Amino acid sequence: MKKIGVLTSGGDSPGMNAAIRAVVRKAIYHDLQVAGIYHGYQGLIEGNIQDLAIGDVGDIIQRGGTKLYSARCLDFKEEAGQLKGIEQLKKHGIEGLVVIGGDGSYRGALALSNHGFPCVGVPGTIDNDISGTDYTIGFDTALNTVIDSIDKIRDTATSHDRSFIIEVMGRDAGDLALWAGLAGGAETILVPEDPFDIDDIAMRLKRGRDRGKKHSIIVVAEGVMTGHELQQKLMEKADIPTHVSVLGHIQRGGSPTARDRVLASQMGAKAVELLLQDIGGKAVGIRNREILAYDFNEVFDGTHEFDESMYKLSKELSI
Ligand code: F6P
Repeated sequence: MKKIGVLTSGGDSPGMNAAIRAVVRKAIYHDLQVAGIYHGYQGLIEGNIQDLAIGDVGDIIQRGGTKLYSARCLDFKEEAGQLKGIEQLKKHGIEGLVVIGGDGSYRGALALSNHGFPCVGVPGTIDNDISGTDYTIGFDTALNTVIDSIDKIRDTATSHDRSFIIEVMGRDAGDLALWAGLAGGAETILVPEDPFDIDDIAMRLKRGRDRGKKHSIIVVAEGVMTGHELQQKLMEKADIPTHVSVLGHIQRGGSPTARDRVLASQMGAKAVELLLQDIGGKAVGIRNREILAYDFNEVFDGTHEFDESMYKLSKELSI
């Protein structure tokens, strides 16, 4: 293999730039040429491709977002779009591709691999919802952003004796809510992995109030329901007034934490190592601190493991 390509796709996540930098520099270190594909799969179809040199990825390890831009591309779900993409890759002399993104991006990478084009996936998403890897790039940064917000909201909750509902991202996964709720000392954490019981939440809030605790923090994952829906239910069912704070896209931005930068560097380098050995059709992950590669099929056949013991602990500590 003489030349590889790299793209970022789907929702951006902090650390994507660090991963791009690792791919480019590791490739150049091993005498491989690298091309950047801009705007994800859409850019691939349109041939928005440029060669990258060492200097092109300088001064980006600390930046949020993605230097290569990102997009969600419906056309790439169709075979016609995928074949156009392969045509562009061949036109630019690219023989292997690193895709940095989440679940949807991996589907595109799997499709390319099934067409015989070697592709490796690097997990870049704040959701931490990819099966087969303990962590995804961006999760740690997003988590710290959420915790910072919870801490700030708690100041007002305490000062004004208010109950706050904080809605966090995560798509269908509860990792961000669980980790942030535990680290932020939330009284209640709602995740899609556990059936939701409004009476139980009301009971917990009332029990706290009976003890003289007049404020509380409820963290709700967006995969359960919106913060405003929960607010309405608590009011209707238990006459409990709450304030809602939807954190939204601040969770996706910002300078990546050291942990995300290191993870991105390790994973980006691993992806290049695989392509150097002509190995495609793999996702890069981390399990028990080991950076490894596994079949794309494992991503789609499995479900990301939710940490039940941590969830149980969060309940025990928020009595
Ligand atoms: O996958 C990352 C994510 O931020 C999810 O947590 C969220 O559900 C979704 O993307 C939002 O996507 P968009 O920015 O396209 O609205």
